[in-house]
Amino acid sequence: MDTAHEHHEPRSGPEEWDERYREDDNAIWSGHPNGSLVAEVSDLPPGRALDVGCGEGADAIWLASRGWQVTGIDISQVALDRAAAAAGEAGVEVEWMQGDFVAGLPTAGAYDLVAVHYPALLKSAMDDAIAALLVGVAPGGTLLFVGHAPPDPAEVESHGVDPDDYVQPGDVAERLGADWTIEVWETRERVAPATAPVRHSHDTILRATRRG
Ligand SMILES: C[S@@+](CC[C@H](N)C(=O)[O-])C[C@H]1O[C@@H](n2cnc3c(N)ncnc32)[C@H](O)[C@@H]1O
Repeated sequence: MDTAHEHHEPRSGPEEWDERYREDDNAIWSGHPNGSLVAEVSDLPPGRALDVGCGEGADAIWLASRGWQVTGIDISQVALDRAAAAAGEAGVEVEWMQGDFVAGLPTAGAYDLVAVHYPALLKSAMDDAIAALLVGVAPGGTLLFVGHAPPDPAEVESHGVDPDDYVQPGDVAERLGADWTIEVWETRERVAPATAPVRHSHDTILRATRRG
């Protein structure tokens, strides 16, 4: 678990992420879907979904349980092994893929939903990362990109991760072309999964649709 007041170096490659997951024998995330996913996607008709940086799989599993055909991609095989075990326990099928999505999504232009929660994408790879996400969304499909939004510097200091190191929803919004409609772009208090404490208090949520 993260320790208060310790500064965390940004992680980018598979080794760093595997190491982060291996620091704990147990799951490091809550095992519950993110509140922003539940809020933004519950009313969408199920289709084909891609969860980018799916981690231990709770969001992908929730989507699959609601009838979505889901692929979860993550750079960490350690995380994906946990995700696959959790999907087995939940009795749902999800396709798990290990890889760096910036190098290319599994299937371009094919997803009715591309969901990205707290992706920890370093700004150095920003243009390629955002381009990769955008090409994944099918005509008429939705991009949901959610980042942490600490309201004051004290909150940043308290958990040692500075969101400014990472690609934020506003960076994505700025790169949406004329064929996109922004449905939601706002910062709001984070809805915690039922049994999990909130370490980051606010989210910035971008939900946009590609015109059909
Ligand atoms: C902060 S975690 C968030 C996990 C999950 N989305 C959630 O909300 O619990 C970021 C995840 O993104 C993955 N990741 C980071 N860079 C990635 C990349 N370039 N391609 C695929 N996955 C990546 C990490 O391994 C990690 O599981």
